[in-house]
Amino acid sequence: MGLGLAALGRPGYINIGHADDLGHDYDVGAMQARAGAVLDAAWAAGVRYFDAARSYGRAEEFLAGWLSSRGKAPDAVTVGSKWGYTYTAGWRVSAAQHEVKQHSLATLERQIAESRERLGAHLDLYQIHSATMESGVLEDPDVLERLARLRQQGVAIGLSLSGPRQADTLQRAMHVRVDGAPLFDAVQATWNLLERSAEPALRAAHDAGLGVIIKEALANGRLTDRNRAPEFAAHRRQLEPVVRRLSCTIDALALAAVLAQPWVDVVLSGAATVDHLRSNLTALDVRWDAATARALESVVEDPANYWDTRSRLEWN
Ligand SMILES: NC(=O)c1ccc[n+]([C@@H]2O[C@H](COP(=O)([O-])OP(=O)(O)OC[C@H]3O[C@@H](n4cnc5c(N)ncnc54)[C@H](OP(=O)(O)O)[C@@H]3O)[C@@H](O)[C@H]2O)c1
Repeated sequence: MGLGLAALGRPGYINIGHADDLGHDYDVGAMQARAGAVLDAAWAAGVRYFDAARSYGRAEEFLAGWLSSRGKAPDAVTVGSKWGYTYTAGWRVSAAQHEVKQHSLATLERQIAESRERLGAHLDLYQIHSATMESGVLEDPDVLERLARLRQQGVAIGLSLSGPRQADTLQRAMHVRVDGAPLFDAVQATWNLLERSAEPALRAAHDAGLGVIIKEALANGRLTDRNRAPEFAAHRRQLEPVVRRLSCTIDALALAAVLAQPWVDVVLSGAATVDHLRSNLTALDVRWDAATARALESVVEDPANYWDTRSRLEWN
């Protein structure tokens, strides 16, 4: 399991309950201390992959500070970051615009310099943040060549996916060649009990040798005990007997569902508190079996509805 810093690096995020979990305390020092405590707990539990992005506020800075203050050598951890979104919220929860997407060569040049300035030799993996068919990034020869050059310098290249067409984008990405060589080493995608549509494409990517990192395993907090929304009640009725039988929590069960997939290399926890992280990590102890998989087969949403619900989550 890895730890993502989307909820730790900035005051506002779309995860359910984010503001409550931060105690509405957005002091930079307090947020850095919180990130450090969650990173310490993750490290102590054996987590060695950490995921950031230029747009996660001060996530790269917090991670770099933690790596340096705890004396973690580059070869002791794997660090991924992303380029393509610029953070524009100005450390506010209610910003007109939280991030601006631009997959241009100019953004890549600026953000790789910023990421390297913070993470230095710790930066192992650089991902296009939310590549989509519409963004055109997979057809931009200048961007692809620049990424290939980074790869020659020893940084693995990845892309993250979002939206109902994750599979199409991944299939397109797997055909990208620069000077005859495949460009991508890894893909980060959403797969969870509610949204499994990218599974065949992710399995193919894994079989082709790409690393597969799964994000949003808890559907941004919807697959947790705190989700009391009436429209989730039917799913809850299916999840609860399984949770009781396996003596686990809903979040651990949802993460265990990901860990059970043979084509997954890393699943991210997006916890913003040490308690949530610890609860998430109990997924490693869940005794997943075929009966569990069958019982949860129909806990699934139509992909268009899933992504529509996600797009309506409030920044908090
Ligand atoms: N496009 C992209 O590239 C992209 C997009 C999204 C995410 N990511 C990466 O994936 C990482 C993980 O994904 P994620 O944070 O989006 O989503 P997630 O894992 O689906 O959801 C995390 C949410 O579940 C809540 N939670 C966890 N355990 C809980 C518990 N025991 N009880 C109640 N609530 C609990 C968390 O609360 P707290 O956080 O408040 O503890 C948070 O709201 C991110 O940090 C980021 O690195 C990448």
